[in-house]
Amino acid sequence: MPETHFSCMWIEQSDAGDVSRIIHQIMPAQLPDGEVLVRVDYSSLNYKDALAASGHPGVVQAFPHVPGIDAAGEVVASDSVRFSPGQAVFLTGYELGAQRWGGWSRYVRVPADWLLPLPQELTLQEAMIYGTAGLTAALSVDALRRQEIVPSAGEVLVTGATGGVGSLAVLLLAGLGYQVVASTGKPAMHDVLRSWGASQVVPREELAGPQKRPLLGERWAGVIDTVGGATLGSVLKATRRNGCVAACGLVGGVNWEASVYPFILRGITLAGIDSAWCPTARRQQMWSQLAQEWRPALLAEVARLTTLDALPGQIDQMLAGQLTGRWVVALADPAEST
Ligand SMILES: NC(=O)c1ccc[n+]([C@@H]2O[C@H](COP(=O)([O-])OP(=O)(O)OC[C@H]3O[C@@H](n4cnc5c(N)ncnc54)[C@H](OP(=O)(O)O)[C@@H]3O)[C@@H](O)[C@H]2O)c1
Repeated sequence: MPETHFSCMWIEQSDAGDVSRIIHQIMPAQLPDGEVLVRVDYSSLNYKDALAASGHPGVVQAFPHVPGIDAAGEVVASDSVRFSPGQAVFLTGYELGAQRWGGWSRYVRVPADWLLPLPQELTLQEAMIYGTAGLTAALSVDALRRQEIVPSAGEVLVTGATGGVGSLAVLLLAGLGYQVVASTGKPAMHDVLRSWGASQVVPREELAGPQKRPLLGERWAGVIDTVGGATLGSVLKATRRNGCVAACGLVGGVNWEASVYPFILRGITLAGIDSAWCPTARRQQMWSQLAQEWRPALLAEVARLTTLDALPGQIDQMLAGQLTGRWVVALADPAEST
């Protein structure tokens, strides 16, 4: 049990409503209740974290708040027989970094049910390269496979392809042999997307079809949509008969104009993806796939390391849609003696 203060990213709101992000020192006694205390070596930056770090009321319910929906590290103290001090563990989602203080902190205290032992094939850092984004990408790929969208079915579209979920979805699909079409708003990233395994790259604006038409020409066997809003409405209209669209994101909006035609004339499935409350058995199955059969050779290529000090700049870039790939947050203080 740490006897001294440790660092975390602290989100405060002033009486005037201004939100500030500071590196703050807190004591273990200030952490929320829970069965397992974990010393966090790595967390990551997800879109939901960027919202939390901006005090978004859809994520943050009380101030001060500590963001970080992912965490990986070592058990320090445990009231659960399932976890012992020294064990390498990780967790993504549930209430972490939302209703409960999260992983942008050297320590977290959490319910044992939220933790998973680190698979032996992964390092703590690799678990956080995947993080929530990896679980979401895996659940989305799995949703397509459950609808029998196999690699020979045709082109599979990934929207927001340079983002965290998008980049991992491209890697996973390409590794499984799918013909991946990546949609991006970043012209400078076309070659990089091809190097990650996309067979074709389409500019974001090309996806917006004529808004009035209930159906567009059939193109996509499957879609992993991290954008939502009008993009989701548009890709549903262009999905082939018996295709599947896995909807997991909202960076482009939450509402779209819908009709029943893609569903009743083309038998399309709209699969909703929720990684935060993914049941344990499915979560374990997905992590086993990510650690073994589905593990992309280029996993490290999409990731970069950052620190609490540098994060505010990256948060602003992410909210502006400018960040690419996965950002892993290193929590260990170089000055620590332990
Ligand atoms: N359902 C779940 O369980 C779950 C889990 C994780 C994340 N998510 C959601 O998935 C989305 C992506 O999360 P992330 O962590 O991967 O975020 P991210 O790294 O910021 O990626 C988002 C990407 O979307 C594209 N984009 C940004 N702004 C856009 C806009 N206005 N219109 C269209 N495209 C835009 C950009 O890619 P390009 O420039 O390449 O187009 C951007 O890199 C978020 O909405 C997040 O909340 C959901």
